[in-house]
Parts: sequence; structure tokens; C-alpha cells
Amino acid sequence: MSTPETATATTSVAEPVEARVAHHRRYLMCKPTHFTVDYKINPWMEPTTPTDTAKAVAQWQKLHDLYLELGHEVELIEPLPGYPDMVYTANGGFTIDGRAYVPEFFYEQRQGESPAFADWFRANGFDTVMPKEINEGEGDFLLAGDVILAGTGFRSVGDSHREVREVFDREVVTLTLVDPRFYHLDTALTVLDPVVEEGQTAGIAYLPNAFDEASQQILQERFPDAILVADEDGAVFGLNSASDGRNVIISPRATGFEKQLRERGYNPIMVDLSELLLGGGGIKCCTLELRGA
Ligand code: ARG
Repeated sequence: MSTPETATATTSVAEPVEARVAHHRRYLMCKPTHFTVDYKINPWMEPTTPTDTAKAVAQWQKLHDLYLELGHEVELIEPLPGYPDMVYTANGGFTIDGRAYVPEFFYEQRQGESPAFADWFRANGFDTVMPKEINEGEGDFLLAGDVILAGTGFRSVGDSHREVREVFDREVVTLTLVDPRFYHLDTALTVLDPVVEEGQTAGIAYLPNAFDEASQQILQERFPDAILVADEDGAVFGLNSASDGRNVIISPRATGFEKQLRERGYNPIMVDLSELLLGGGGIKCCTLELRGA
């Protein structure tokens, strides 16, 4: 039985944060064997800046090995020579319940990746749907609970939002990106809870300034408890992270976001992909979720 004194004592200490549960994940990754920056399709890419492929591979390997240590499964797709951006497998498709929606890249430089991803999905038992509309896979489509959050403004076009709705028969919420540094949705928003109970809202974090006002409004209404990330953490690709519901893999530069995650009971783990950032990609870009099949 608690006396008034003990009640006072308990309320004076910080509330214990609920225990977060890690959910087993299956990911598709691609070793950056052919990584370089020899064209520019986003503001991060500078073809005159030298890249170090061995360093890119070593950094990528750490992320890969960490996923295995956390108990996740990692599938690999063979890197194609001449496609230095193939390491960013998040753009290789979008999967739910064993169905894969294949990307149609906006820039010609990446268009040759699509058939390779389509072949991989077919060979691995996915019901593989070829797109008609320009879309860049999980770069722009993120599953939050039952809802597909869909980015547009730089890469995936609005018509792909209709197409993705038809393919998966799920509600699709369009969000418009306005800052060219954050050209894919996964550079501006991260889903922290990959699995939620029915009727529950997934935890998310986002960079408000990356979105137009109407989209900020939608995010506020739908995700009132979201973590709002500061511009300085966004600018170092802090939101380009992968979460299993408990462990959140983030850039070591996103120190403010790290703190916010701890306060909410998540376990941030820092992985440095500085070399891959030269291509405009980070942790999430190198990680495609495989759901079902
Ligand atoms: N250089 C690549 C591009 O511009 C980077 C892709 C990053 N991928 C991502 N999911 N945000 O297409």
C-alpha cells in the first residue's frame, strides 16, 4: 500500500519508459562493389570529389553485420557494373505481404537497375508487379501501420501514388517534399515502429521543414506524437535510419535525434556511412524491407 509520502516520491522521478520490442526484419542489401559518384542526380553528389570504394564497402559491411547481430535476415542482390547507385536498395522496390511493386526510376542513369530488382523478386517468390508510373520504391513509399506514406516532389510522381494504392489496396497519404536535399521521403521521415497492433498509430520521426505546409498539417494531424527532428540532425541524414521497433540505426552525426530516441525508450545505434553519403544516401537507402514471401 502506498503512503502519501511514497506517492510523492514516485512522481518526482522520471516516468519509466515502456519497454520497446524489437521485431524480426528481413532486408535486401547490395554490396557497393561498383560504388562511385560519376554523375549528379541529387545535391549531395559531386562527381569531381574522389570516392573510396573500399571504404564504402567496409562501412556498408558494418551495417550488414549489425543487422545480423541484431538477429535480422539479410538477402543480397548481385551488384551490376555501371550502376554505382545500386547499393541504395531502398529504391529497388516496395513490398507488402509477398507482393513487390517494381521501381521505374526518374533518372536514366538508374533505369537499368529495375529489371535486376524485378528478376530478384521473381526468383525469390514475390508476386512481382511492373510499374507504369515513375516511382523509386521505398525511397518514397513507407509503410506506417496500415497506411502507405508516399512522397513526391522530386522523384516519384503523383500518379505512382494512385498506382501503389491499386497494387496494394491500402490507404495512401501523399506528402510533398520541397527541399532538394531531401529528395526522397526516406531522407525526411522515418517509421520507428515497423509493426503495430491493429488500430494503433506507428511511431514516426520527421523533419518538418522538408515538407510543404499542407503535408506538415497532415503529419501533425495523423501523428500528433511524432518526434520532430531539428534541421541540423536532418541535414546530416539523421532521418535516413532503420528501426526494428527498438533498435534504431542512425548516423553518428545526428546527436539531437539520438537523445530524442533515448527519451522515447528506443535504442539508437550509430553507424557511419560517410562514404555512401557522397552519393546522397545513408542507412535507410541501403536497406530495403522485405515483407512476406
Ligand atoms: N544517388 C542516389 C540517387 O540519387 C541515392 C539514392 C538514395 N536512396 C534513398 N532511398 N534515399 O538516386
